[in-house]
Amino acid sequence: MRVLVTGGAGFIGTHVLAALTADGHDLRVLDSLRRDVHRGPPPSLPGLQVGDVRDPVALDQALAGIDTVVHLAAKVGLGVDVQDLPDYADSNMHGTAALLAAMARAGVTNLVQASSMVVYGEGFGRCPEHGPVTPGPRAESELRAGRFEPPCPRCERPLDAMLIAEDAPLDPRNAYAVSKVTQEQLATSWARSTGGQATSLRLHNVYGPGMPRDTPYAGVAAIFLSALRRGAAPAVFEDGGQRRDFVHVRDVAAAFAAAVARPADGVRALNVGSGTPRTVGDMARALSAALGGPEPVVTGAYRLGDVRHITADSARARAELDWAPGVAFADGTAELARA
Ligand code: UD1
Repeated sequence: MRVLVTGGAGFIGTHVLAALTADGHDLRVLDSLRRDVHRGPPPSLPGLQVGDVRDPVALDQALAGIDTVVHLAAKVGLGVDVQDLPDYADSNMHGTAALLAAMARAGVTNLVQASSMVVYGEGFGRCPEHGPVTPGPRAESELRAGRFEPPCPRCERPLDAMLIAEDAPLDPRNAYAVSKVTQEQLATSWARSTGGQATSLRLHNVYGPGMPRDTPYAGVAAIFLSALRRGAAPAVFEDGGQRRDFVHVRDVAAAFAAAVARPADGVRALNVGSGTPRTVGDMARALSAALGGPEPVVTGAYRLGDVRHITADSARARAELDWAPGVAFADGTAELARA
C-alpha cells in the first residue's frame, strides 16, 4: 500500500515508518519539522516532504496516489500554560480538519490517527459503596494540601483502580485532550460524509528510544532521564503513586501497522497500552536503577492539568488488530537508559 505518514519525522513517527517499511508498504512523510520539537539538523528520511498539515497545497501534493494516511502530526503534552491554547487548537484541530478535507479531494478513504488516553479525563474508580464513579477535577486547594487521590464524588471514600474501556464517557480536561477528542469527532464526521474508514488509536504513555527530551512537551520518562544524565535525582511529582500505563514505542508502532493492515469497518477508537499499570514512581526507580543514578526524590509538586490515574484496557485492540504488546517494562526501561 502507499501510505502517507504525517508527523513521520517525530518520535512515534520514525518507529511507525520502520514498522510500515517492514510490512512492505511504500511510504511518504509529511512533516513540518517544527523548531520546538526538531532542534537538530533535518533527518534524512526517504520520501520526506517538509510541509505543514494546515497547508492545503502541501497536502494535495503529499496525498497524490496515496491509499492510507497515518496521521501523527500534532502538538503533544500538557503544554506550558494557557498561552498554548491557540497552538493546540490550530495544530491539532485545524491540522486534522485540513487533512481530512484534502483526503476527500484526493479520494483517500483510509485514516489511522493518533488519539490519546487523555480523552477519558480522570477515568473511573470503583467506590466500595457506589461502584464505578468518575471523580471530578482535583481542586488546587486539595493538591496544595498533599491530598492527591480523588475520592468518590458521592461519599468521599477512597477509590480502587479500574481499567478504562473505549465505551467510557469522554471527559477531556486540558487543551491537548480537547484537541484529541475533536480530532476523533472530525474523523467521524469525515467518514460519514465520504464513506471513509477511520481508526483512532488512544495511546497510553509512550516511551522508548528517540523520546523528545529537554522540551516543555517532553514525557516524564524523558524528563527523568535528562535529570539522571546530569547526575541529578528524578523529581517525582505528587507522591509518585500516579498510575499510568507506559507502553513501548515499538509496540505502539506495531499497533499502527496492524491498524493499516486491518482497516476499520467505519469508525473505531482503540486503546493502546501495555496492559500493565505502573506508577510514575516505578518509572523513576527503574531508570535510576538502570543508570546507577541517585534515588528519585518525591517532591509533592503538582500540575493542575494532570490526571491522577489513567490506565487502559487494550483488549479490543488485541482482538480487532490481532496485536499484542511485546516489550516488558524492565526491558524497555533498561533499553531506554542505555539509548
Ligand atoms: C502523556 C503524554 C500525552 C498522552 C498521554 C496519554 C507527554 C508529554 N504526554 O500525558 O501526550 O496523550 O500521556 O496517557 O508525553 N511528572 C513527574 N515529574 C516530572 C514531570 C511529570 O512526576 O518532572 C508526572 C506528572 O505529574 C504525571 C506523570 O508524571 O503524573 C506523567 O506526566 P507526562 O509524562 O507529562 O504524561 P501525561 O500527562 O500522562
